Amino acid sequence: MNLLLLGRGKTGSLVAEVAQERKHHVGIVGAKENAGGAALTASSLEGIGAVIDFTAPHSVLANIEACVKAGKSMVVGTTGWYKELGRVRALVEQHKTGFVYSPNFSIGVNLFFDIARTAATALRHDYSGQIFERHHVHKKDAPSGTAITLQHIIREATGRKEDLEITSFREGEVVGLHEVVFESPADRIYLCHDAKSRRGFAEGAVRAAEWLVGKNGFYDFKDVWREL
Ligand SMILES: NC(=O)c1ccc[n+]([C@@H]2O[C@H](COP(=O)([O-])OP(=O)(O)OC[C@H]3O[C@@H](n4cnc5c(N)ncnc54)[C@H](OP(=O)(O)O)[C@@H]3O)[C@@H](O)[C@H]2O)c1
Repeated sequence: MNLLLLGRGKTGSLVAEVAQERKHHVGIVGAKENAGGAALTASSLEGIGAVIDFTAPHSVLANIEACVKAGKSMVVGTTGWYKELGRVRALVEQHKTGFVYSPNFSIGVNLFFDIARTAATALRHDYSGQIFERHHVHKKDAPSGTAITLQHIIREATGRKEDLEITSFREGEVVGLHEVVFESPADRIYLCHDAKSRRGFAEGAVRAAEWLVGKNGFYDFKDVWREL
């Protein structure tokens, strides 16, 4: 495929590497060339099979609007924009493009979501719960999109009105560590996912772009990763 990658940062550069290993043609656009989505016109996007975005919360919405309006399918890894999910979904449906998003494209974390959903039953018994997340000091949003997804999954699984509390830590170069802890007077259950590198995110995002070929619609990766 011809893939266009937005963002040459820590994750974006690895996505480019993985895409090349999987024999795709990869173009990359960075912040300098693309203020406000300026590099993303119908003519510049001609021949592109999908656009993958690993940029920043302040730039992602302009990128999404430009690509979707140009009829391009997108895989969006950037976090920090989910208050606008409804508007983006409507735009994608209006333009009949394909769109996959996730706060976390690693297969391991998506499996972890399922484990947390099952373990949430603890809250119907004598347990309280908490979520902890640790990331590198450069991360722009807090809490992490992955922690917020865990919070939603656990709330939906139990039908509770209150969300579990999320505590965020920003330390050194931590790639991404998420913990869910359920505690009762008798015992404590620890669930933990610890990303050893960014490679899992990059592989999931490229495989999501491959999965999207020939499809349109708005997808959350946690609902489709089993089909990869
Ligand atoms: N979904 C997942 O699996 C996953 C995994 C890891 C990270 N993330 C998310 O992905 C995003 C990027 O993370 P990161 O750690 O790779 O950050 P990063 O190292 O700061 O990289 C972001 C890059 O985006 C570039 N950029 C900013 N605005 C742009 C624009 N309009 N067009 C093109 N490029 C632009 C920046 O360029 P300059 O340096 O020139 O400003 C920077 O190189 C964050 O939101 C993070 O939370 C998601």
